[in-house]
Order: sequence, then C-alpha cells, then structure tokens
Amino acid sequence: MRSHKCGELNTSHLDQVVDLCGWVHRRRDHGGVIFIDLRDRAGLVQVVFDPDRADSFAIAESVRSEYVLKIQGKVRARPAGTINPNMNSGEIEVLGLSVEVLNKSETPPFPLESEIEVNEDTRLRYRYMDLRRPQMQEKMRIRRDITRNLRNFLDEREFFEIETPYLTKATPEGARDYLVPSRTHQNSFFALPQSPQLYKQLLMISGMDRYYQVVRCFRDEDLRADRQPEFTQLDIETSFMNENDIMTIMEEMIRSLFKTILNEDLPNPFPRMPYSEAMGRYGSDKPDLRIPLELVDIGDEMKDVDFKVFSAPANDPKGRVAALRLPNGSDLSRKDIDDLTKFVGIYGAKGLAYIKVNDRNGGIEGLQSPIVKFAPAEVWEKVLLKTGAETGDLIFFGADNAKIVNEALGALRVKLGLERGLVNSKWQPMWVVDFPMFDWDEKANRFNAIHHPFTAPSCSVEELESNPGEALSRAYDLVLNGTEVGGGSIRIHRTEMQSRVFDLLGIGKEEAQEKFGFLLEALKYGCPPHGGIAFGMDRLVMLMTDSTSIREVIAFPKTQSAACPLFNAPAHVSELQLRELGIKLRKPDVKEAKEE
Ligand code: AMO
Ligand code: AMP
Repeated sequence: MRSHKCGELNTSHLDQVVDLCGWVHRRRDHGGVIFIDLRDRAGLVQVVFDPDRADSFAIAESVRSEYVLKIQGKVRARPAGTINPNMNSGEIEVLGLSVEVLNKSETPPFPLESEIEVNEDTRLRYRYMDLRRPQMQEKMRIRRDITRNLRNFLDEREFFEIETPYLTKATPEGARDYLVPSRTHQNSFFALPQSPQLYKQLLMISGMDRYYQVVRCFRDEDLRADRQPEFTQLDIETSFMNENDIMTIMEEMIRSLFKTILNEDLPNPFPRMPYSEAMGRYGSDKPDLRIPLELVDIGDEMKDVDFKVFSAPANDPKGRVAALRLPNGSDLSRKDIDDLTKFVGIYGAKGLAYIKVNDRNGGIEGLQSPIVKFAPAEVWEKVLLKTGAETGDLIFFGADNAKIVNEALGALRVKLGLERGLVNSKWQPMWVVDFPMFDWDEKANRFNAIHHPFTAPSCSVEELESNPGEALSRAYDLVLNGTEVGGGSIRIHRTEMQSRVFDLLGIGKEEAQEKFGFLLEALKYGCPPHGGIAFGMDRLVMLMTDSTSIREVIAFPKTQSAACPLFNAPAHVSELQLRELGIKLRKPDVKEAKEE
C-alpha cells in the first residue's frame, strides 16, 4: 500500500512521488491551504493540500484527528523559514496529489500530542490509543532494541534459550502465588511461576551448561512504581562458573548494552560492596551511589547522654543511632524540617532530630538545635568531627532499632540528594555481595531466606548450623542508580546442604519432600556446581528510557490495584465454568481478609 514510511522521508527523497499510509496527527487550516501531519511508527511528515486540486482538498478538509489515510504526494523542500528541526522529516514536506480515507475515527479520548499530560487510568483504559503516541512508540522500540541486544550477547556466548512451563507448582520467591485451577484434577491448582528458578537449576542438572530465557514471572505482591504482578525477567543460569565468573560476564553484558543503546560508558569493573557496608553507609541494600551523602554511626558517642531517645538504642544491640550530614543544609526552614519529619514517619521513625551548624568554630553556641542541651559540648564536637560538618551544614539524626533508622535515613538521603540536586553522575551500577543467608522473622519465630532457599552459603554445613544468623550467602544483586535491576546466586548443589537449609527455614522433612522432593532427588544424580542471575527487564528499560515507572515501558500493564482497565480483568466467570472446575465461591469474608 505504501512506498515509504512517513517519518523516514528527508531531502534524499526530493521530487519523488511517494505513497504514504498513516494517522492524522494534526490538521491545520491555513488560509486556504490545509496541512496534515501524517503519523506512522517511523514518525511524522507534513502533507500540504492546495485548493487547486479540488477533490483531494475537499477530502483533506473533512478529515479529523486519528483518521487513517492513504496519501500520494510529491516530496518537496520546505520554504525557507518553515524548517522544523524537531522533526526527522522537518526539512521537507509532501505536496498532496491524492488522498483516500482508509478509516474514520471517533474523537480520541485524549489528544495524542506529546506535551499533554493525561491521567493514567484513562491512558490504560485506552492503551491502544496511548501506545500511538510517539513517545510510547519510542519506548517500545528501545525495549525491542534492549531485548535484542541482550539476546545477541548471550547467543554469541552459547547460552541456549529454553522455554519453561507457566503452569507449574509454587516457586518460592517470597510473594504470594497466582493460582490456576485444574479441570482435569479437581481440587488441585497450578501456580504460575514467580520465576523459573527450579526449572533452570534442573536444566543445569540436565547438562544444558548455559541457559537464558526472556520470561514472564508472576507475583501477587503489593505493587509500586517498580513492581508489577506480571513482569519480565532475563533469566540466566550457568554451570561450572563461580560468582566472580558470573558477575564478570554479566557486567560485560550490561556495559555493552549501555554502550550500544545509549552510547554510555559504564565503569569497568562495577564496584562491589558487602551488604553490611551498604547498610552502614547508605542504610540500604540498593544504594544510589550517584548521591554523595552518607550515614555515620554515632552510637558510641550517645551511650551516656541524657536523652533516652538516643541513649536507649545506643545501648541496644539491635539499635542504631546514626547521623546524616547535609552540606549547606542550614537554609532548611522549620516547615521544611517538619515535612521531612513526616516523611521519615512513613518508615516508622518517631522523630527527626537535627542540628544546624551555624558556626563550626563557635563551640556549642555555634549549634542550633532542640537537642544540643541533652549532651555536653565534647560529645557534639566528636559528632561534628565524625560527620565532617562545616559551617552552614545541617545534621539529621535517626535513633531507633537499626531497621527503622536504616529505612528512614536511607530514604531521607535519597530524597535530599535528588531534591537538592546533589546527584553527581548519570549512571552508578554496583554489585552488592555478602548478603546474610537469613533474617529472623520475629512474628513467625523462624528464619527467612534473604534471597531464596536454593542459594548456597559461603560456609560449611557445620558452620551454618552452629551460627545461622551470622552466615553469609553467595548471592549478588546488581543495583543501578538505587534500583535493584538484577539478583542471583551460586546455588546449593548437594542434597545434604539443601536439606539442612530447608530445616533451618522451618520447612519440615515431610513438607520439603512434598514441595521440593523432585529437587532433592535430582541433586543426587550428579548435579554440577551452578549459579545464575535474573534481571528485571522492565526496570532496566525504565531506567534506560528515563521513565518514572515500569508501567511506562510495558505495553499492557496492570494498575496499582493489579487490574487491567482495558479488558476489565480480573472478571467474574460463569457458573458453568466454575462447576467444570469444581469450584464453589464463598462470600468475601471481610473479617478474615482484614486479619491476614
Ligand atoms: P529476584 O526475586 O531478585 O530473583 O528477581 C530478579 C529481578 O526481577 C525484578 N523483579 C521485578 N520486577 C518487576 N516487578 C516485580 N514484581 C519484580 N520482582 C522482581 C527485579 C529483581 O532484581 N530466581 C531469582 C533469580 C536468581 O536467583 O537467579 C529471582 O527471581 O529487578
Ligand atoms: P522530643 O524531646 O520528643 O521533643 O524530641 C526532640 C527532638 O528529637 C525532636 O526534633 C524530635 O523530632 C527528635 N526525635 C524524637 N524521636 C526521635 C528518634 N527516634 N530518632 C531521631 N530523632 C528523634
């Protein structure tokens, strides 16, 4: 139907007669001349209709936004002064010779011009229109380029792309499962995979050596800007490689991706930081290294002060008292600090003590704060030295159990860094390593796996059992600008270690057999040492396209409440379908749901 795409026309096509198909992006009537910006996936081109071709002029006059047209026209240079440098085809225009309306369109639910902000619910309800917008087309194009680049890298290195089932059994990655009832096995359910973790390990036992898959994963968990109930992983597993081998090849892949797609040079190698150091310095296991602010422990200094809020956590092994220095922060007003206090409240902080350093050399008189009175001058002098404070700075304090202090000051650090323009580089990848194996779940009175139950510890079975709370794992996360874009580990490849880890996680023999018997058995048949990683493709594309949420880079995402407003899913099903599945619905039990 067409000889060229709209957006690819340029001065090399001058004087050619072209056939174009596309949508009416904009139509303008200019004193007897009609301009139509015709749009296809390649971009826009301006088509001009003169009244001396009466037939086509009349049709051009009748078309509206989003009509689908077929136009034959002649490419000509734009008159001087009308060149549009923002358009690929901005140096030329097409003189319309004939036009055919291939289809009409109702008035679009929202204008598709790029400058206009449209509310997200409307965009998702009419996603097929939203995706027509040039910036969304561009995001889908970059997503295609990124996936293709990663596939090429892995294909060249003999990774096999192998598909694994979606109808499967629960795969523990820490979220709730999406269940699918079975008609042929009444009262039984498949679970959609939270990741292909166990299949990829079985593929290593099968001797596949190097595997990857661009694969959908399903997790019923609380949604955020960087979390969707179904999302895409680049899932990878290798045999006979240790964590250093895996991190090395994976960062080479990411460096090459950034060079090809964005022409950006990422550091070589990526910095690696133990989990404990990341928590200590940044209060987070996914620190944004673009922001130079750091937390400083002042627990030792606060043990004996006359301020319970500080002295109690300073003397509690689970407590933390930390300071965060904001250079030149003393311009913050009372109201600013009140707002920040509310902000850290979201993370459970009961307050946000601060000191304004009005004069670094003025002793205690040079400090302005509601809390200076609680400790002698020499204590504050030590705090100023430790934090490196200078005149004009402001120091924030967090005091509570370590978890709350880390989350509150960690988030405050990022907020202040971004809002006050302290970001000092564009891209800061890093590996976080040496994670603990477990964390203690107070409520359930047992350990949880920090990564997943198949991750190998970096110690022997005996050492693990004698001190599980202190054991470190062979896991690694890839963090980019404060977002966790990937995570993986060396796996347990011996039945004995795997059984002990299940024990420590409170998974009894019977339950382990029922849930993971097939794995425990497979490990006995010559399982090679193996390990891998999975990247969150949506998060990677979000960062690389500078988008604010992964919903921006997924063609048909779910809303914050895990629904699809376009298809109206999830939806009720017929009584007949339920009967076939052997399912009887219960009335939603409000009380029970609340207790959960
Ligand atoms: P993990 O659970 O860390 O590891 O997931 C790997 C990466 O997937 C992305 N991700 C998500 N992206 C969008 N929405 C979500 N709900 C979501 N959850 C996770 C993150 C994360 O880093 N089987 C292991 C990998 C392994 O050990 O090889 C796993 O799934 O970017
Ligand atoms: P108060 O004596 O309760 O008025 O608190 C004095 C200062 O300490 C105020 O600035 C509070 O915001 C702050 N504060 C209270 N609790 C904490 C806490 N757990 N961590 C940090 N600062 C706190």
